[in-house]
Amino acid sequence: MIVAIDGPSGSGKSSVAREVARRCDLTYLDTGAMYRSVAYLCLERGVDPEDDARTAEVARAARIEFSGEGGRRVLADGEDVTEAIRTAEVERAVSPVSANPAVREAMVAQQRRAGETGGVVAEGRDIGTVVFPAAEVKVFLTASPEARARRRAVQRHGGDLARGAAVEVDAAAERAILDDLVRRDAYDSSRATSPLRTADDAVRIDSSELGFEEVVGRVVELVRAAEGARS
Ligand code: DC
Repeated sequence: MIVAIDGPSGSGKSSVAREVARRCDLTYLDTGAMYRSVAYLCLERGVDPEDDARTAEVARAARIEFSGEGGRRVLADGEDVTEAIRTAEVERAVSPVSANPAVREAMVAQQRRAGETGGVVAEGRDIGTVVFPAAEVKVFLTASPEARARRRAVQRHGGDLARGAAVEVDAAAERAILDDLVRRDAYDSSRATSPLRTADDAVRIDSSELGFEEVVGRVVELVRAAEGARS
């Protein structure tokens, strides 16, 4: 069983994919963390993220692994980078890194190897279109830019809307997150290699007005239906 969950940043993909994996006893694969890890390794080694040739070398040599409960810890060449890949610096470097076709080729090959034995919920931008076009379940999870910015802002302040743990957020900070998100959306959707788009056979779910449980419930239903169709 391969479950592909794509969508823009802040749509709630990660929390949803992780929970679906837990409930359906599948392995969670965070492909965004892989691109972030390559960006991190470039910064660590003084490689300019805009230098396509050197960035591709880093990507081809990178050993990215997931460990710990639910595959939450991210290891890049043996170093635990789980927190280090979430900084604003990495966030800036990851756009040119993930737009590099040679980097994508290396990452897609690693992702396909992870899916070889099946039993995976993979989350990203091109999972249903490029990485696993034959996935049994494909979901495109989206939400309005405002809803996504709000979620990110609450997360940065230690809250978690998925779990109903809201916190007070500064309006200016939320505005800055919204601007950054709109800029990244435009970049991810317009890049030449694997732009973010909905696979023709994906089920679109808009999480703006839905609770976390409802979204997870819908995806789990799709997984159960696909399992039923197999047997
Ligand atoms: O989902 P995320 O925010 O962790 O993703 C980090 C970056 O990697 C983001 O700029 C989009 C890119 N990405 C991608 O191009 N393809 C994927 N399959 C996953 C992420």
